[in-house]
Amino acid sequence: MKLRAVKGMNDILPEESRRWQRLESCFRRTVKLYGYEELRTPIVEQLELFQKSTGETSEVVQKQMFTLERSREALALRPEGTPSAARVYIGESMQAREPVTRWYYIGPMFRAEQPQRGRYRQFHQAGCELYGDAGPYCDAEMIDMLYGMLVSLGLRGVSVTVNSLGGPEARAAYRDQLRAFFEPKKDALSPHAQERLGDNPLRILDSKDPRDQEACQGAPTLLDVLTGEDRAHWDGLRAALDALGTPYTVDPRLVRGLDYYTRTCFEISASTGEIGSQNALLGGGRYDGMVGSLGGPDVPAIGFAMGLERILLALGDTPVERAPLCFIAPLGQKAALEGLRLARTLRERGVRVELDGRGNSLKSMLRRANTMGARHCLVFGDAELERGVVQLKDLQSHEQSDLPSADAVARVVEACAASGAPVAPADTGGTA
Ligand code: HAM
Repeated sequence: MKLRAVKGMNDILPEESRRWQRLESCFRRTVKLYGYEELRTPIVEQLELFQKSTGETSEVVQKQMFTLERSREALALRPEGTPSAARVYIGESMQAREPVTRWYYIGPMFRAEQPQRGRYRQFHQAGCELYGDAGPYCDAEMIDMLYGMLVSLGLRGVSVTVNSLGGPEARAAYRDQLRAFFEPKKDALSPHAQERLGDNPLRILDSKDPRDQEACQGAPTLLDVLTGEDRAHWDGLRAALDALGTPYTVDPRLVRGLDYYTRTCFEISASTGEIGSQNALLGGGRYDGMVGSLGGPDVPAIGFAMGLERILLALGDTPVERAPLCFIAPLGQKAALEGLRLARTLRERGVRVELDGRGNSLKSMLRRANTMGARHCLVFGDAELERGVVQLKDLQSHEQSDLPSADAVARVVEACAASGAPVAPADTGGTA
């Protein structure tokens, strides 16, 4: 039997990981500037958590959960991060500790979807959750932060779509209106939409089935039934986005796939790269009722999650520039030991180093240094060490110089800095 990865779950090999690290660093750097702190939660949760929050009528809970049972407890691999964060928020009584809480997370999520480009069974999200601010200014600030981050990553055609789903009152009224609207044309709807008519008619609005899209023509919109307070919130959101100069379009049909959203919801897509523009790179919105409905205090919340695979697809496969590599080629045993010390010191100074300690010939070591794309190479044998000299080769220009071994570290650091890419401490994300 040939062992293979599970359907819809992918390995990420080092060349790819570099691009992931760059994206994750950019995300971390950005959200930290806005005050978000990292929250890490388990991948496995009680199934009930998702049933109560993601929602019984959502596609995710109805069809896509990876569930398991252990000691008669029903568990699930998390399909999203929002419910876990709300569980922690409640469990840690965060509302008593601080008026506003800002958390971010990065990690794998699991949904048993039909795998295709940009849609996987294990995928990765980077998301933020903000508790304790009812908005709408923090809503606009979050959307603006995301727009700026995606543009700064180099994505083109970034487009923001926003809508308001209103509060529970407006939603209930809207559900009734929609049922009344679709009921006479029920037979023209897809079988899936006919099922949704009973439990969640809003989802018919974002169906991709042409029959449903046709039937949606002329449907009432939620924006028409917003209460006075919902409308003030919606107007405030747009005014703040306008003040920030964040481009956006209003789509009254944007309803999102999870049950918990209230008022503001948004998605962002981009036109570049290998992913169709209809595929959202990220989505989010307000979920003012979730914390209360899970047994916590009545605290408003808003958040988003972006799909890292989708953003990387949209970015295309531009290689990520790496810090210059210094190759150390020692000839002889004493030289190899000195090489170990030198490599450690150089790494402490932020230089990426490969040491060949296998006792190979100079020719084969230089061949390997070139194959690895090393920019600089330090060569020395036992005899050179006795004399206190090492040779520094520039493998690109083929220049070489003998220098006192005491100067080797300083000269390599200098040469790396001069050769373009910065000598980078691990967390900057500028290089990988
Ligand atoms: P979501 O829209 O279900 O929202 O997912 C957010 C993003 O995760 C999507 O826009 C997409 O980029 C990515 N994504 C979702 N499913 C897949 C998949 N099967 N394969 C690859 N990427 C995928 C949420 O998950 C909410 N928790 C967002 C949120 C946070 N709302 C409030 N706070």
